Amino acid sequence: MSIFDPRALRDAFGAFATGVTVVTAIGPDGRPLGFTANSFSSVSLDPPLLSICLAKSSRNFATMTTASGFAVNILADDQKEVSSTFARPVEDRFATVTWQTGPHGSPVVAGVAAWFDCSLAQVIEAGDHVILLGRVEAFGTSGKNGLGYVRGGYFTPALTAKAVSAAVDGHLFLSAVVERQGDVLLLGETSLSLPGLASESGDPQAELQAHLQALTGLTITIGTLYSVYEEKQADRQHIVYRAFAGEGVPGQGRFVPVSTLPSLSFATMATGDIMARFARESAFGNFGVYFGDDTAGRVHAMSQAMVRKA
Ligand SMILES: Cc1cc2nc3c(=O)[nH]c(=O)nc-3n(C[C@H](O)[C@H](O)[C@H](O)COP(=O)(O)O)c2cc1C
Repeated sequence: MSIFDPRALRDAFGAFATGVTVVTAIGPDGRPLGFTANSFSSVSLDPPLLSICLAKSSRNFATMTTASGFAVNILADDQKEVSSTFARPVEDRFATVTWQTGPHGSPVVAGVAAWFDCSLAQVIEAGDHVILLGRVEAFGTSGKNGLGYVRGGYFTPALTAKAVSAAVDGHLFLSAVVERQGDVLLLGETSLSLPGLASESGDPQAELQAHLQALTGLTITIGTLYSVYEEKQADRQHIVYRAFAGEGVPGQGRFVPVSTLPSLSFATMATGDIMARFARESAFGNFGVYFGDDTAGRVHAMSQAMVRKA
C-alpha cells in the first residue's frame, strides 16, 4: 500500500513536462484500438527499444499486452483534439482521425510528429501499470513539433517561435512583465494587469514591442519568454515575455517595486500567479518559464494565499 496521497503524487509526477503520444494496436477482431499516453520513453538505440506504461485498468489491457506489436504516434502540436479523443471513452476513437496500417501492422495516425511501429518485446510488471517494451521495426518523422504536456495542460514548443500565431489561429494574447531597476510596470488602479494586446501578426515579439512603446512612450526591449498558458474558458493562449524599459515617465501605467507585488490585487488569478512567481524569482534572480493553463490549481492557490496573507 502506498503511504502517499495519490492525488499529491500524481501532481508531483505531473511537474515533469512530456510530449503526448497515441499508442495503437490491432485487436483480435481486426479493429484498431488506441489510447493517449505521455509515459513514452526512448530506451535503447541498439537494439532500438522504447517503452510505454499502460494502466492495468485500461479496457485495452488484454489486447495491448498480447498483441504482436503496437505503434507509438508522437502527436504534433496541432493535435490536442486527437489526444483528448484517445483519452475519452469514445466508442470509435479512430472515426475522427485519418490513419493507415504501418509496415509492422499497427495503426499509424496521419499528421503526427513521428511514429514508431514496434513488435512487443516484453511486458514488465510495474505496480498498477505494466511497462510495454517495444522493439522499433519501422519509424517515420514529419518534421513537425511535438505537442507538450505538463501539470495537466498542453503546451506547444512552437509557441516560443514565430510560428505561434498561425498555430493558435489568432486566439493569442501577448503581454509583458516590463521591468526597470527592480520595478514592474502595471496598468490599472486597484485591479492591476500587465500591459498586452491580442496578437494579429506572425511576429509576436515585434508586435508586443511596438505596442508597449506606443503605450508608454519609453524604449522597450523584449526579453525571454516568461509564461505560456491557456485560458481555457476563453479558448485563448497567453504568452508573457519579460521586457525592459528605458528611462522616463510612462505615458500609461506606473512602475511599482517588486517587493510590493505580493500585497497587490490583480485582475485575474493568472496574473496574480505570474506576479507572485516573479516576486519570488526576483529574490534569487533566477527566472523560469511556466507552461500550463490558467487553472493549474496548486500554483494559483499558493499565489492567492500569498496575496491574502500580505
Ligand atoms: C495526456 C495524457 C496522458 C496519458 N498517459 C497515459 C499513460 O501513459 N498510460 C496509460 O495507461 N494511460 C494514460 N492516459 C490515460 C488514458 O489515455 C485513458 O485512461 C485511457 O484512454 C482510458 O481508456 P481505455 O480504458 O480505453 O484505455 C493518459 C491520458 C492523457 C490525457
